[in-house]
Amino acid sequence: MTSNLNWWKGGIIYQIYPRSFMDSNGDGVGDLKGITKKLGYVASLGVDAIWLSPIFTSPMKDFGYDVSDYRDIDPMFGSLADFKEMTDHAHELGLKVMIDQVISHSSDLHPWFEESRQDKTNPKADWYVWSDPKPDGSPPNNWLSIFGGSAWKWDSRRLQYYLHNFLDTQPDLNFHNPEVRQANLDNMRFWLDLGVDGFRLDTVNFYFHSQGLEDNPPVPPGEPKTKGAPEDNPYSYQRHVYDLSRPENLDFLKDLRAMMDEYPGTTTVGEIGDDFPLERMAEYTSGGDKLHMAYTFDFLNKPHSPEYIRDVLANMNEIVGDGWPCWALSNHDVVRSRTRWGAGEDPIAYPLVAMALIMSLRGSVCMYQGEELGLPEADVPFERIQDPYGIPLWPVFKGRDGCRTPMVWDNTPLGGFSNVEPWLPVDSDHLPLSVAEQEKDTTALLHKIRQFIKWRQQQPILVNGSLTLENVENEKLVSFIREFEGQRWLVVLNMTMDTQTSPVAHAVDQLVEGHGFDVSLSGDILTVPPYQAAYVKLA
Ligand code: NOJ
Repeated sequence: MTSNLNWWKGGIIYQIYPRSFMDSNGDGVGDLKGITKKLGYVASLGVDAIWLSPIFTSPMKDFGYDVSDYRDIDPMFGSLADFKEMTDHAHELGLKVMIDQVISHSSDLHPWFEESRQDKTNPKADWYVWSDPKPDGSPPNNWLSIFGGSAWKWDSRRLQYYLHNFLDTQPDLNFHNPEVRQANLDNMRFWLDLGVDGFRLDTVNFYFHSQGLEDNPPVPPGEPKTKGAPEDNPYSYQRHVYDLSRPENLDFLKDLRAMMDEYPGTTTVGEIGDDFPLERMAEYTSGGDKLHMAYTFDFLNKPHSPEYIRDVLANMNEIVGDGWPCWALSNHDVVRSRTRWGAGEDPIAYPLVAMALIMSLRGSVCMYQGEELGLPEADVPFERIQDPYGIPLWPVFKGRDGCRTPMVWDNTPLGGFSNVEPWLPVDSDHLPLSVAEQEKDTTALLHKIRQFIKWRQQQPILVNGSLTLENVENEKLVSFIREFEGQRWLVVLNMTMDTQTSPVAHAVDQLVEGHGFDVSLSGDILTVPPYQAAYVKLA
């Protein structure tokens, strides 16, 4: 673990989904005291930080991504004192603490919205995005909610529509209003003063909309659908020119960064769902005056062939320049990577090499609870589905519950997560993969991931180095060169189930050891068995 102010640069962030991490009070939902109890385990992985999905007061319509009080903890998760205790313990263990800031929208139960919807003249009347209907009573334009239907909801008090990019209980804050911008910064400052080390910024490119409310154009025939939403979601049929990624956001992000810079050693990672995510990442993370890092859905989607991965890396180099990516294979919004990328592959070796991939790239890393165990997507029966995004689209899209089921600490029926039936079921297929079971087995993924992370954290070249894609003859391999302070390493990953060989087109110093992978070099021919990775120090 690094203690410098730039710990986030190349750092590994472990995402905790608090509802499903550890239930300490027997109500079937995880909480802060539960997290505190398990922080030793998280630290044992060798990661730098935790990111907690939202823990703020919320009616939980979108499980916390709908905040009704930005400065308090939802009683379901505990209290501010529990938060402080958790943060202190994390710091004692050398872990930084990042929290989720969901400021593009609030809950409809936030006092700001309750006031705003009263009439057109109240002091908060302009804090949300309100619009008159068209003369025929229909919504002002064709903008869509990611969660389905029009992005506009009628309010009978104001006789106007309000904008919501997600649920209609998540009204969109009007960032064109300087008071709104300031109120959000003040709320973030509250948490910085309490000692948090950074923020994950929900939908960071959604803060501003075009005040002209122009219709979005359709995606031109033959062009790729919009990224960031599944292809079967009509949202991906539009180019989101007017409802997100507006140029005004850059100035706000500069103000945000100026505030962060008052708290040395803190950081931000923005979530970008966009038609052109890498262009946005470049805009938002380059120059050192806006976000520190950002993540896109490039590795959170389904494609994962070596060719696709090489393309993403090439585009990243070309487009993002000095910006700083944060790589993620899994999170609380997408099918678990073991199932999405790893179906039909070796259940231990594939997740390991996939993790080695993102931990060997230029950038930081977010890993998601349970990824170190190789948990597959859980099967959640329709009667137990909770995610409002999944219910109407079932069974084509089953929502996000399958990646949000409880963490499995042991192989008892409730996985050691709770002593009552949890809010989402524990998948019995997860039990043999529990922490306790894997701790006992030295060949388990958990031990291999730990070994790999510990080794990776001691290689400044992997944490800080530049990356150049390498053209290898064997197209089944993903290969690149990392370079730092005069040292050069060739990294070659075999993410296939067959042994791959490739000539090395550089003078070799030695194969680097200690990461747990097994490869051989004979003359200039590198042999990489299935799911192995080679780290070659060049002369
Ligand atoms: C992205 C979050 O990750 C997701 O869980 C949430 O539903 C939406 N933003 C809306 O806040």
